[in-house]
Amino acid sequence: MRARRLVCGIWSLCFMFCLFCIFLHQTTAKRKLKFVSMVFCHGEHTPEELFPADMHKEILRQQGHGQLTKLGIQQQYELGQYMRRRYSHFLSVVYKQSEIYVQSTDCDHTLMSAQASLAGLYPLTQDQIWNPRILWQPIPVHTVPLSHDNLLYLPFSHCPKYKELLRETFTTRDFQRQLKHYKPFLKFLATHTGYSLKKLNTERIWKLLDTLQYEDNNNYTLPVWATRGVRTKLIKLSELLLQAEFGFHKQIQKSRLQGGILLKTILKHISNARNSSHRQKMVMYSGHAATIAALQTALNVFNGKLPPYSACHFFELYQERNGQYTIEMYYRNNSLRNPHPLTLPGCKFRCPLERFTQLVSPVLVRYWTKECRM
Ligand SMILES: *[C@@H]1O[C@H](CO)[C@@H](O)[C@H](O)[C@H]1NC(C)=O
Ligand SMILES: *[C@@H]1O[C@H](CO)[C@@H](O)[C@H](O)[C@H]1NC(C)=O
Ligand SMILES: *[C@@H]1O[C@H](CO)[C@@H](O)[C@H](O)[C@H]1NC(C)=O
Repeated sequence: MRARRLVCGIWSLCFMFCLFCIFLHQTTAKRKLKFVSMVFCHGEHTPEELFPADMHKEILRQQGHGQLTKLGIQQQYELGQYMRRRYSHFLSVVYKQSEIYVQSTDCDHTLMSAQASLAGLYPLTQDQIWNPRILWQPIPVHTVPLSHDNLLYLPFSHCPKYKELLRETFTTRDFQRQLKHYKPFLKFLATHTGYSLKKLNTERIWKLLDTLQYEDNNNYTLPVWATRGVRTKLIKLSELLLQAEFGFHKQIQKSRLQGGILLKTILKHISNARNSSHRQKMVMYSGHAATIAALQTALNVFNGKLPPYSACHFFELYQERNGQYTIEMYYRNNSLRNPHPLTLPGCKFRCPLERFTQLVSPVLVRYWTKECRM
């Protein structure tokens, strides 16, 4: 009797569980992912430029300028594998031209990063193998010359209005107050790197950090002055300059001329993806730390930190059960944990597309060239 009641109990539990599964299926199955756009930063690479006093001149001779390293390839490959896991039920297993478009800046390390990610995203299926010893297939990566890159190679410097805004930023009291802490440090850097103080601009500071980071990771002896404390301070300074570049002062105006362009392009893709005859599922952009910073500043979700190697910003367009379209954003800045959900200020995490577009409309520029004129 007791055994029978137990069996009955188990049966009704199973029944309830099945009902629950059906319920879950009905409530979740109808929410559909429609489109994804990703913007990532390259993996580790060899220095693009050594500072004049650098002792390791052989690096560039042996490894080349700005080439993705083995670690960099691994980082990007891992990112691609993560994308495959995340979108296994969305993106076809085999590469299809109509589903995905990939664009990179015209730099060796970003082009190589895109290719390494694609190798992770599209592992070969049995009938794609064209040589059993090479488990890789070519997948197109598009680019335009840097001088014509009005999308990913940020900041766009050929814009007089932006240059003016940047000059203004540097003279604001707030910025000067923060920069003051770094004045002796800049002199210190100039003395030891061999750059003149005048040459030590934002771009050089970022490159110097890149070089020291590369040499440290790859077991080259660092110069004695480049202590951990100095490198930490260099990171802080780089972050201050990164914020000043895209935000800090007149952020909306700057975003219209910088990160807003990429945002506008992505929103255009997202908007097109609502059309039921649209087949494209994914647009992938391979850029730099500044690309991510500019985009996230335009969205007002930037955390102020230098985007690490292979950091990736995700946009996902969903169609909800009631037919409404929503956007979710994620930021993957650590491969060991799940990406951080990012919420557009003024919206819910799962932001209705119309609301999203309305909220970011102040940074979407119509006539860039015209607005760049002074
Ligand atoms: C650098 O040295 C460490 C410790 O000896 C080692 O674990 C690491 O693999 C080395 N890195 C490279 C890139 O050779
Ligand atoms: C959807 O796409 C088709 C084919 O490209 C086009 O003819 C049509 O106008 C589009 N519909 C909307 C609502 O944009
Ligand atoms: C990663 O991004 C999140 C969200 O912006 C931020 O809270 C976190 O501090 C970041 N971590 C690193 C290591 O940059």
